[in-house]
Amino acid sequence: MNDGCAECKGGCDQTPPRSRRGVMFMIGAGLMGVGSLVAAVPLLGVLIAPGFRRYGNTWIDLGAVGNFPMGQTRLASFAIPGSNPNDGQTATAAAWVRSMEGQKFQVFAVNCAHLGCPVKWFQQSRLFMCPCHGGVYYEDGSRASGPPPRGLFEYPVKVENGHLLIDAGRLPGLQESV
Ligand code: FES
Repeated sequence: MNDGCAECKGGCDQTPPRSRRGVMFMIGAGLMGVGSLVAAVPLLGVLIAPGFRRYGNTWIDLGAVGNFPMGQTRLASFAIPGSNPNDGQTATAAAWVRSMEGQKFQVFAVNCAHLGCPVKWFQQSRLFMCPCHGGVYYEDGSRASGPPPRGLFEYPVKVENGHLLIDAGRLPGLQESV
């Protein structure tokens, strides 16, 4: 036997009716719970999605090693992995290829490590120079002078079957602070 409702003063077995305030509280709490769940979906996505992300092969063929004569630095362009035909010019990126003795290569992103302007190679002075704020880099990509906080960003490189490949799946960026 329960306490009963206000009308029967505890003299019956009926469950007392909920007050309007109680009903409104339950509805409000329910709506807040649903709202919290909806708001949590993007956060969960950010936390969980990287674990399911899959990248394809991101090694890009820059061409035969013969296209890059020893002792020279040349510009090469390539299609950015994951781009599609509708991306137009933005689907293409460029890199400076430095060819050294013994089929060794360094490949640099063209973008200055200061604010991203494209740097230009000067063969005579053997320097990369940035036209925006005067950043200068040595031929090995290290910083020579000016506002850049570090050297040029460099792509991982390998030679396979006589072709020069770079791992262009993850563009170099300022997260690599050294
Ligand atoms: Fe190159 Fe500023 S963007 S020096």
